[in-house]
Amino acid sequence: MHERFSLESSGGLKREIDRLGLELGLSDDFSVYNSAVCTGGLTIPNRLAVHPMEGCDGESDGAPGPLTARRYERFAKGGAGLIWFEAVAVVPEGRANPRQLWIHEDNWESFKEIREDIDRWAKEEYGHDFSPVVIMQLTHSGRFSRPVDKPKPLIAANNPYLNERMKLDEDYPAITDEELMALEDDYERAAVLAKKAGFDGVGIKACHRYLVSELLGAFTREGIYGGSFEGRTRFYLNIIDKAGKYADEKFIIASRLNMYDGIPRPYGWGVNEEDYRKCDFSEPLKLIEIIRQKGVRLVNATMGTPYYNPHVNRPYDAGEYLPPEHPLEGISRLISGAGEIRRKWDDMIVVATGFTWLRQLSADTGAWVIKENKASLVGMGRMAFAYPDYARDILDGKGLDVKKCCITCGKCTDLMRAGSVTGCVVKDFKVYAPIYREKGGK
Ligand SMILES: Cc1cc2nc3c(=O)[nH]c(=O)nc-3n(C[C@H](O)[C@H](O)[C@H](O)COP(=O)(O)O)c2cc1C
Repeated sequence: MHERFSLESSGGLKREIDRLGLELGLSDDFSVYNSAVCTGGLTIPNRLAVHPMEGCDGESDGAPGPLTARRYERFAKGGAGLIWFEAVAVVPEGRANPRQLWIHEDNWESFKEIREDIDRWAKEEYGHDFSPVVIMQLTHSGRFSRPVDKPKPLIAANNPYLNERMKLDEDYPAITDEELMALEDDYERAAVLAKKAGFDGVGIKACHRYLVSELLGAFTREGIYGGSFEGRTRFYLNIIDKAGKYADEKFIIASRLNMYDGIPRPYGWGVNEEDYRKCDFSEPLKLIEIIRQKGVRLVNATMGTPYYNPHVNRPYDAGEYLPPEHPLEGISRLISGAGEIRRKWDDMIVVATGFTWLRQLSADTGAWVIKENKASLVGMGRMAFAYPDYARDILDGKGLDVKKCCITCGKCTDLMRAGSVTGCVVKDFKVYAPIYREKGGK
């Protein structure tokens, strides 16, 4: 049954973990966060990351808007060593909302500006030597595309679970092989522009069942981009190759990858064939070995999709349904995905996801994750919206202030679904509470 967060101490959390028999732990040694980690010629100055978090606040031409800049100023001043810049579409029709960022020839300079600002904001706060690594996430929203004011799905394959949810016919036409081939070049072009804009790398978004992620689980798709492991991974690997031509000491290719979709076979990736509630990491790990051979060394491990099983994707206190499991089980699953990658390869820098529900105790769980080598960095998503300087408080050794923590109330998602700009309605209320009320929220 669903459990709302009510843990006040690490002792209480430990008892819950033991009661549920989970492989999770806590550590009060926050010094583990203070060491740098290197990838390629880049140095990530500490072990805290801001996950990609869209605010749906770009300009109509895809350039960052004033609220986008405000968000990155808060993140940059927050002190995390890695800022995984939100999803940026490679083509206009691949945007998940009309205000999603989209990089192209006519606006890449505005991305350069925000990249330079991030560095300046971070230096103003922490001194000349501090420079966060900033990776631009490249996306095509595929089935979840909504480039204008209504959905315009571009699906990789039909899927009874998601088709039903989205009210799509069972034989809704899928994107063609020719269209996918052309899109590979769009990713390449976007990677070139991200490099010109001064980003430290691009992260190919292969998660949450957006286009690349849906292709990974496209067992039923015919043609060269579906069916076998080779077919399903072709689009992703071609993009890694095409973007990889521009990789060097100061520009890396990274990826945010679903380790598990939580959708039954033959539609889900990383899922046990008999029981979709269980993970089967064999294909995700096989794929990671291939991208590792291609030089990828930074991976952000995640799971699920916010449109079908948000409790898998981001354990919460309030959402559209009562989750069938304790949020700690979801957190443990998310961390296990990162842990499997670290267990296999010491040279893969892995960002783990799934801490925000733990509020102030996320710092303790994260310290345990790093100490036990289950991930290289601890990433925060919703927490960064609510408490953008969470990293500073952890790095100072103070720990997190419970009053500033995200309460996983889901209002940021409500705003997004209402087609609005989004942020933290509760802790960043001066900006987002009036917008929430205007949209009819209470
Ligand atoms: C409002 C909102 C925007 C998000 N934007 C992105 C995004 O651009 N790219 C991405 O990979 N994930 C995105 N996510 C997912 C988060 O990065 C993260 O995986 C999820 O919230 C779980 O982490 P948390 O428990 O720390 O919040 C978003 C989530 C929310 C709620």
